[in-house]
Amino acid sequence: MSELSAPFAILAELTHRCPLRCVYCSNPLELVRRSNELDTGTWRRVLDEAAELGILQVHFSGGEPTVRKDLEELVAHATGRGLYTNLITSGILSDGEQLIRLADAGLAHVQISIQDSDDETGDWIAGYAGAQQKKRDLAVTVADANLALTINAVMHRHNIDRIESVIDMALEMGAQRVEIANVQYYGWGIPNRPNLMPTLDQLESMNAIVLRRQEELKGVLVIDYVVPDYYARRPKACMNGWARRFLNITPSGYVLPCHAAETIPDLVFDNVRDKGLADIWANSTALNRFRGTDWMPEPCSSCEYRERDWGGCRCQALALTGSAENTDPVCELSPFHDQVRALAESESQTREVALTYRSFSKTPETT
Ligand code: SF4
Ligand code: FES
Repeated sequence: MSELSAPFAILAELTHRCPLRCVYCSNPLELVRRSNELDTGTWRRVLDEAAELGILQVHFSGGEPTVRKDLEELVAHATGRGLYTNLITSGILSDGEQLIRLADAGLAHVQISIQDSDDETGDWIAGYAGAQQKKRDLAVTVADANLALTINAVMHRHNIDRIESVIDMALEMGAQRVEIANVQYYGWGIPNRPNLMPTLDQLESMNAIVLRRQEELKGVLVIDYVVPDYYARRPKACMNGWARRFLNITPSGYVLPCHAAETIPDLVFDNVRDKGLADIWANSTALNRFRGTDWMPEPCSSCEYRERDWGGCRCQALALTGSAENTDPVCELSPFHDQVRALAESESQTREVALTYRSFSKTPETT
């Protein structure tokens, strides 16, 4: 295996508490309770260790990270250690004053997720009345505070035909970048997959619009776009390769290579309560399990793309083939590829399936 380099960024999942119940939420089905969240002192130590390890960016996320009363302290601490800080927020709970205090603490960047350009559908997908308007309001404060803004828009069957106005909404909100994402079918996305899968026609139409708008908006708005997995011919380099560049730290302190890794049975994850981050990064059996290329089966192990896509996504291989060790079936060289395409086409035709929301009894308190 080649020499291990430092991770580039960590996703610090401060909490699973969140007022929204997005039907494609990638958080685990069993959420961490508030009483089991890492405390401020532990997070401060982890941020110190991240800086010492050579990590450059910390993305404060959740759940909804603005519910943490110590968020300003953590942003200030990370900034003081030279880390670039990003707040990934639903935009629901933060008020203008909190955002100004975060900017004063050194926050560099804000990412707000939107569910649609149509408020009624957006609120339906988020399971929260009035969500869309709150996001628009927060974007005004982000601009007033001179913070960089990225809008993250997750596309699916119910909003994909509005891709043009979703891009316009990002512009109106003052974003410099919009990530046009597609639903990733992990967590709550799996039970809702038949209701969210777009048709191939919808997808091709979105592709054409995004390509056109990327050209038109050069120098004004950066549009990041990834083709949805189920219709692709080659997999994405999920997380830029397992435990190569990124780390997730869960609200209770487990160190993961990606947000869905806990779905893979038999992996034992280390916890920052017990070990230092540098030790975990180098020696965690779970991080080393699919790191690099040595673990790969054929056709990946002899494939010319193996150091480009790193064999795709382990969590998706598990969800679709039953084993995380298989080639990501999005790859057309996988023996499961045709089944995945058939599944996408069949589910995209499913109609009148009710959305499945996380019940409030499963939602940790939001304050
Ligand atoms: Fe990527 Fe493996 Fe497919 Fe090659 S065979 S393109 S490495 S997923
Ligand atoms: Fe876990 Fe892709 S989400 S490897």
